[in-house]
Amino acid sequence: MSKVTVVGAGNVGATCANVLAVKKVASEVVLIDIKEGVAEGKAMDIMQTAQLIGFDTVVKGVTNKYEETANSDVVVITSGIPRKPGMTREELIGVNAGIVKSVAQQILKYSPKAILVVVSNPMDTMAYLTMKATGLKKNRVIGMGGALDSSRLKYYLSQKLNCNARDVEGFVIGGHGDTTMIPMARFATYKGIPVTNFMTKADLDEVVKATMVGGATLTGLLGTSAWMAPGASAAAVVDAIINDQKKMIPCSAYLNGEYGCKDIYMGVPCIIGKRGIEKIVKLRMTNAEKELFAASYAAVAKTTGILKEINAL
Ligand code: NAI
Ligand code: 2OP
Repeated sequence: MSKVTVVGAGNVGATCANVLAVKKVASEVVLIDIKEGVAEGKAMDIMQTAQLIGFDTVVKGVTNKYEETANSDVVVITSGIPRKPGMTREELIGVNAGIVKSVAQQILKYSPKAILVVVSNPMDTMAYLTMKATGLKKNRVIGMGGALDSSRLKYYLSQKLNCNARDVEGFVIGGHGDTTMIPMARFATYKGIPVTNFMTKADLDEVVKATMVGGATLTGLLGTSAWMAPGASAAAVVDAIINDQKKMIPCSAYLNGEYGCKDIYMGVPCIIGKRGIEKIVKLRMTNAEKELFAASYAAVAKTTGILKEINAL
């Protein structure tokens, strides 16, 4: 028996709940939103696919009734506003900080043992805020952006290689932002063979650039930020926790000493299992990669610093 709550029944939250049901990750999923009827409607819509798709997960939608979320094992926080074309994730901080903080506090009243997976943007900063505002141990607050960015890297690599995306490996670290993420091209492989065996440096550079603006590209096409891969990425992190998979997933984790960082949430490869972030994986980086990471750290630290300026902490 496992219970997952997804806060925010918008595009990402509803998709996440749907993937959790279809993949039979949890036996119970509660969708909760402040907009009257939205969570109820999305949950009912998902449940009407149960006999078509064949899952037994019970998905329930509620408006503001936190008591229904009680004893959740994992809680995914997607509540907040998404970016519109031309906006950065960082511009969302003022509105989303208030929402994320109050949601995290309400969730913990009813699910004091839950592990929190943060989606709302700017995600690294929202994960930091969640940990600081709740006082939770660092392993219990996870930002999921690296899972999404890595999935986009693998997509663009597979497009270039004209191959099955599941035969491609690769990962992205750093901040979850257009200019702060670092696709680690050096480690990308096709069936274990370095991708540089199959593509030129120029092609690989193109893949890296496309990955970095992957979210913005979709926001331009859709008029709002993407939800399919974001929802599925959050669900993949939940799956790793609920089923104690000990998978290596790039996630935003609390770094205080690791990777030369101090008191910050940023994307690094993590081992994810039933205790949340069970281990931060160390990487031997080249000087060029170290420079990119340092620049990303400075940018994420600047955004995170805004929390104090707006009295969110
Ligand atoms: P959306 O607008 O479709 O859904 C957000 C939902 O949150 C709405 O239904 C809204 O009513 C609800 N909400 C607002 N305040 C709430 C509160 N206090 N309690 C409960 N629910 C509340 O937005 P979408 O596209 O689902 O995106 C959600 C967030 O996730 C945005 O901040 C977006 O930028 C972020 N995002 C993050 C990604 C990542 O990789 N970290 C990827 C995609 C989106
Ligand atoms: C994305 O990467 C905007 O964070 C959102 O799609």
